[in-house]
Amino acid sequence: MKMIRIKTPKEIQLMRRAGQITAAARSLAGKMVVPGITTLEIDKAVRSFIKSQGAVPTFLGYAGYPASVCISINEEVIHGIPGHRKIKEGDVVSIDVGATKDGFVGDCAATFIAGEGTEEAKKLVEVTRQSFYEGIKYARPGCRVSDIGAAIQRYAEDNGFGVVRDYVGHGVGAQMHEEPEVPNFGHPGHGARLVKNMTIAVEPMITSGDWQVRVLKDDWTVVTRDGSLAAHYENTILITDDEPEILTYCEDMV
Ligand code: MF3
Ligand code: CO
Repeated sequence: MKMIRIKTPKEIQLMRRAGQITAAARSLAGKMVVPGITTLEIDKAVRSFIKSQGAVPTFLGYAGYPASVCISINEEVIHGIPGHRKIKEGDVVSIDVGATKDGFVGDCAATFIAGEGTEEAKKLVEVTRQSFYEGIKYARPGCRVSDIGAAIQRYAEDNGFGVVRDYVGHGVGAQMHEEPEVPNFGHPGHGARLVKNMTIAVEPMITSGDWQVRVLKDDWTVVTRDGSLAAHYENTILITDDEPEILTYCEDMV
């Protein structure tokens, strides 16, 4: 049977600590998004930062994934593998990172622009981030999981963008992927009811064109079918009595 794991106060403390480390890793990576750097350099810096915090890069070895972060550029949506590719001026760079500390996982992502981006790129990045905040207005007791996705979809599509359907957010805790699935689209009023002390990752993946995607021959990198730009924004959040708490929080997060 599919089970949503509600966290105890002690587990929530551990989730907070894992979340802070993960958020700091995302900020560190974001500051490294400058023209000329290779994606492997970012991966290495993030890996050593996570280890310096007594944590483990959650993605490394997960289903055979070979790196500590996913770095997805321009038409790449998610799961881009770091390598010798150099970031160029104007690139739209999505960074996704996970860290496990004392048995609990933080998972977060954000999209950064290298140097000066186009107006379209800047709007995509901002709408993607805001769509997360529109979604989590419904991340509270009494709401249902699909209320979040419905709000994300409405906001993104009202702004003329596409919402990726093939990949979704998820419960998070001792495992990176727990129940429930948290889609970024759909009709409100469906799926599990949200209750206090659930922890979920809400992660809109938004495109400047059509929502359809495909996976490259490396078996990981997900790209838009139409070659349009994509952005990703994700936080691990805690359901509370009222507004959700962002567990992947740090002072200089975007
Ligand atoms: N952050 C991604 C997610 O939310 C996981 C990356 S996949 C991995 O599902 F293989 F790189 F770990
Ligand atoms: Co995730």
